[in-house]
Amino acid sequence: MPISPARVAAFDILLRVEREDSYASELLHASRYANLSAADHGLATELVMGILRWRSLLDKYIAERSSQKLPRLDREVLTALRLAAYQLLFLDRVPQRAAVHESVELVKRARKRSAVPFANAVLRNFAGIARNPDGVSAIANAKTAPELAEDSAHPLWLVERWIQEFGFEAGKQICVYNQRIPEAAISVSDATIADELRKHKIQLSAGHLLKSAYCVTAGDLTGTRPFREGRVVTQDEASQLVSMLVGEGSKILDCCAAPGGKTRTLAGRNPNARIVATELYPHRARLLRRLVAAANVQVIAADARKLPTIALFDRVLADVPCSGTGTLARNPEIKWRLKLEDLADLQGRQLAILRSAMQRVSPGGRLVYSTCSLEKEENSAVVEGAMSVDSSFRVLDCRVELERLRAHGELRWEDIDSLTSGPYLQTIPGVHPCDGFFAAILEKI
Ligand SMILES: C[S@@+](CC[C@H](N)C(=O)[O-])C[C@H]1O[C@@H](n2cnc3c(N)ncnc32)[C@H](O)[C@@H]1O
Repeated sequence: MPISPARVAAFDILLRVEREDSYASELLHASRYANLSAADHGLATELVMGILRWRSLLDKYIAERSSQKLPRLDREVLTALRLAAYQLLFLDRVPQRAAVHESVELVKRARKRSAVPFANAVLRNFAGIARNPDGVSAIANAKTAPELAEDSAHPLWLVERWIQEFGFEAGKQICVYNQRIPEAAISVSDATIADELRKHKIQLSAGHLLKSAYCVTAGDLTGTRPFREGRVVTQDEASQLVSMLVGEGSKILDCCAAPGGKTRTLAGRNPNARIVATELYPHRARLLRRLVAAANVQVIAADARKLPTIALFDRVLADVPCSGTGTLARNPEIKWRLKLEDLADLQGRQLAILRSAMQRVSPGGRLVYSTCSLEKEENSAVVEGAMSVDSSFRVLDCRVELERLRAHGELRWEDIDSLTSGPYLQTIPGVHPCDGFFAAILEKI
C-alpha cells in the first residue's frame, strides 16, 4: 500500500524544518505542494503543525516506549515515530493501523530499513493508548512552571520567563493559546471585499481588536478570487494595530518591511504619502513588491543598519527581526530552535537597526519600534538602550494613540489598560485574541 501524499509531505517538511531552519508555514505553501488535493493539504498541515506544537510531549510518550535514547535515533526515524505518535494520540479519525503502517513505510522510504523492527516495536507499545484530541484541556491542571511546560509542550526556560514577566495565569493563557490553531485575520479597507468573500462561502466574524479586521471562521480563503488577486491578505490583528500606531505622514520609511503586511496597511492609510520600504534580502524584497503593488511605495533591498538614503521622514516604522515568541501558535518550531543566548545577538541587531532608523526621523516626526516578541531584551531594553545614547527623542505613551484610535471607532478593544505595559503596547497571546506584539512610539524633539 503506498504512503499517502499528505504523510509524505508532512514527513519531508518536518525534516526540512529541522535540517534547514525553514519555517513550516512557508514550506506548506511552497509550489512543490500546490498539487496536493485540498484534503491532503489539510491533513499535511494538521500533521506538521500538530507535531511541531506537541513535539516534547510526543517525545515523552515515544521515550517511555523506546529501548533507545531519543537523541541517538536518526532524525528520519524519530520524525516517522512522531508522525505516528501524533496521530495515535491526537487524531481520533485516523485508524491506528494506518498511522503505524505508514510511519514504518516512511522509515523504509528514508532508507533506514535496519530501524524498521525498532520502529515497529516502539509503535506496538502504543497499542490501546487513550486518544486525547483536545490536548489543551490537560494544561488547565498545571500548578507549577515545570508542569505547565510539560503539559503544554513548551521549553521550561520560556515558560519560566513568561511567568516571571506576566504572572502564572497569563503564562498559562499564553501556553494554551500557542497550542491551538489560531484564527486567520484579514484586514479589509473596503467593505465590498467582505461581501465578495461571503459569496465565496467564506464565513467572517468581526475583528476582536479592530473595526477594519475580520476573522475567517470557515472556508478556504486562499481559493478565493480576492485572495488570489492580492486584494485581501491575512494579517494578525496585533500586526495591523502596530501599523496603525505609525499614524499619518507625508514621507514614510518602513525599514524592515517584508513580507509587507504593515507596509500594505501604511499604504492603505496614507494613499498620498511617499513610502520607502526597505528589506535586507533581495528575494524577500521581491515578495514585498508582489504583496504591495501600490504606486506610492518604493521597495529597496537594503540593510536598515546602513540605509542608502539621507532623506528624513515624518513617520518611520522599524518592525525589526526578532525571536518571534509572540507568534508560537503560527510558528511552533521557534520554541524548539530558540536558545536563551540568541536573545543577546538579536538585541544587538535590533539596537543597530533602531539607532540607524532614528537618524532618519525629521524633527517633530515619529518612529514606531516593534517586534512580535514577548521578551524584554528585544523590547523595552532595546528602546531604553537607544534612548540612553540619544537625547533628541522622547518616548510617547501608546495609550494616547490607542485612545485616539478608539475615539475614532477604529479600535474595537475596550480594555486599553490591558494592551499597554508602561508607555508601550504589549499584546499577549491568550490574554488577547492575537499574536504577541510589542511597540514603542518615539518622537524626535
Ligand atoms: C519582523 S519581519 C518584518 C515584517 C513586516 N514588517 C510585515 O509586517 O510584514 C523583519 C524583516 O526584516 C528583515 N531584516 C532582517 N535584518 C534586516 C536588516 N538589517 N535590514 C533590513 N531588513 C532586515 C527580515 O528579512 C524580515 O523580512
